Amino acid sequence: MIEKKGMTIIDPDIIPVFTLYNGDKIPCIGMGTFGSDRVSPEDVAGAVAGAIRCGYRLFDCAACYGNEDQIGEVFSTAFQNGEVKREDMFIMTKVWNDMHRHVAESARKSIADLKCEYIDMLFIHWPFPNYHAPFCDVDARNPDSRPFSVSEFLDTYRQIEELVDEGLVRHIGISNMTIPKLEAVLDQLRIPPSACESELHPTFQQTELVDYLKTHNILPIGYMPLGSPRRPERDILPEDVNDMKTPLLQELAEKYHCHPAIICLKWALGRGQLPIPFSVHNYEANLKASITGQLTNDEMKEIAGLECGNRLVKGQVFLWPEADDWHDLWDEDDNYRKRWAAE
Ligand SMILES: NC(=O)c1ccc[n+]([C@@H]2O[C@H](COP(=O)([O-])OP(=O)(O)OC[C@H]3O[C@@H](n4cnc5c(N)ncnc54)[C@H](OP(=O)(O)O)[C@@H]3O)[C@@H](O)[C@H]2O)c1
Repeated sequence: MIEKKGMTIIDPDIIPVFTLYNGDKIPCIGMGTFGSDRVSPEDVAGAVAGAIRCGYRLFDCAACYGNEDQIGEVFSTAFQNGEVKREDMFIMTKVWNDMHRHVAESARKSIADLKCEYIDMLFIHWPFPNYHAPFCDVDARNPDSRPFSVSEFLDTYRQIEELVDEGLVRHIGISNMTIPKLEAVLDQLRIPPSACESELHPTFQQTELVDYLKTHNILPIGYMPLGSPRRPERDILPEDVNDMKTPLLQELAEKYHCHPAIICLKWALGRGQLPIPFSVHNYEANLKASITGQLTNDEMKEIAGLECGNRLVKGQVFLWPEADDWHDLWDEDDNYRKRWAAE
């Protein structure tokens, strides 16, 4: 690690890696790129440029973040000026819900926008095709929305398998899944999913899901690893807990002379899940967290005690007209287990 012109530069070769089911490696930490309706595409792209210089090689993008074009300019410049080789990057992106029947078109557009030739991991962003108008009211329901369907999901997944066959995509990712949905689809997939992106932070640990993923050789990737303090207004409710303001994380941060964000990241890494924090101001510190000391077993156990079911992305804008409330999206009722299994 060297300090150059006031910037920390970390040799990407010393960043620890996770190993995917087929032996491929992925850096243990990535940078999120969702500007969250608050950070402009240009500012996100500026942070990506700085992050590449700092030593990040893994970027979590998505078609629906509305900034792939600007991030692609940064990638293209970095490839052309020899700052980084394409093959040393791990670029992830996602198919948005309105493109489930047009996956190849979505992937080709992301590749063109990101100027990256191929995608290292392409995710199905949500396991159903329901979508909402941008900036719609949080209680709005799209009359076309419908519950999860095994056959629709498999159709979308198979389109990505074809892109793997064509060499445009290297790995398949899934996101916002539940154990009942995984149980219903996993044994029907020709190419296994390499990773699953889920909301994971100290006050929302989804331990059963994380254990299930690991047992099935699927890498858990934690989104909102810091509890997303600047998430969109539609995802903020008065009862939500702010992870980084919990007394335990504040105490540990004081002990280690760092921000509570760093404790969240060390907890994620200690738990064997890959965090993808978003940052325009603190990305150097976040990458550094991956190569500096770990939390003790006792500290890990103490943080386990912060779990309080604090789901921040409830997903209510994806509900179908007959659904009761957002709990239906997450298969909390045991009947879903039976329903998907029967399909
Ligand atoms: N698959 C999905 O459905 C899904 C859903 C949501 C998110 N995601 C992905 O997950 C990524 C991360 O989630 P997120 O962006 O919502 O939330 P997050 O990473 O939990 O939090 C980001 C916020 O934390 C601040 N922060 C970052 N590092 C910090 C540090 N060291 N000290 C103090 N503050 C720090 C950032 O501020 P500064 O910018 O000022 O540093 C930013 O406001 C997204 O960008 C996206 O790529 C995926």
